[in-house]
Amino acid sequence: MEKIALTIDGLNIVADKGMTVLETALRNGIYIPHLCYHPDLKPSGVCRLCLVEVGDEQLVTSCRMKVEQGMVIKTKSPEVDKVRRAIVELLIADHHTDCRNCPSSGQCELQRIMASLHISVKRMRPLKWAREELPRDTSNPFFDYDPNKCVLCGICVQTCEVVQGTSSLYFVGRGYGTKVAFFANKSRCESCRQCVARCPVGALIPKTVR
Ligand code: FES
Repeated sequence: MEKIALTIDGLNIVADKGMTVLETALRNGIYIPHLCYHPDLKPSGVCRLCLVEVGDEQLVTSCRMKVEQGMVIKTKSPEVDKVRRAIVELLIADHHTDCRNCPSSGQCELQRIMASLHISVKRMRPLKWAREELPRDTSNPFFDYDPNKCVLCGICVQTCEVVQGTSSLYFVGRGYGTKVAFFANKSRCESCRQCVARCPVGALIPKTVR
């Protein structure tokens, strides 16, 4: 396997050719915030949180950028932090913030990202959009979907389609009205619960936990 030498945050790193910058960083214990990345899935690049600075202050999504010989990567910089912070604040403004009563609290990727950017839920509360809670979808026999917690990363939809080959989940709606929905024919769902296990927040929760 051809090797690629690069630096990330000043550390000299050797990666396998074909790896992405995000994979390389995570493998070497360097945390880059991410919501839509999963090692088994094709990077969709929708969350934009994995932005890093390459060379001359060019911002790229590290989940889709392959390593190149001599690359110089910064995972943190004033510019990267500013853009990441803006993305997270927009997400939280549209996200439920009752973390104490969420079964995923403590394992939630959004909480982890907020902590890494020093964003507190308390400070975000006044910025939240005034809108009614959306109803939970409880129509699946095995798990519930809470659109108020969904970050639309697409991991559940892609997992169902690519990994399980069942395509029981899909996106419905547009813009801020977008959410995940179950196909009317519930027998398509094989109850593998891979989508639940991979949800980075608490949007998909097994009925037993509720
Ligand atoms: Fe790269 Fe979401 S993890 S865009």
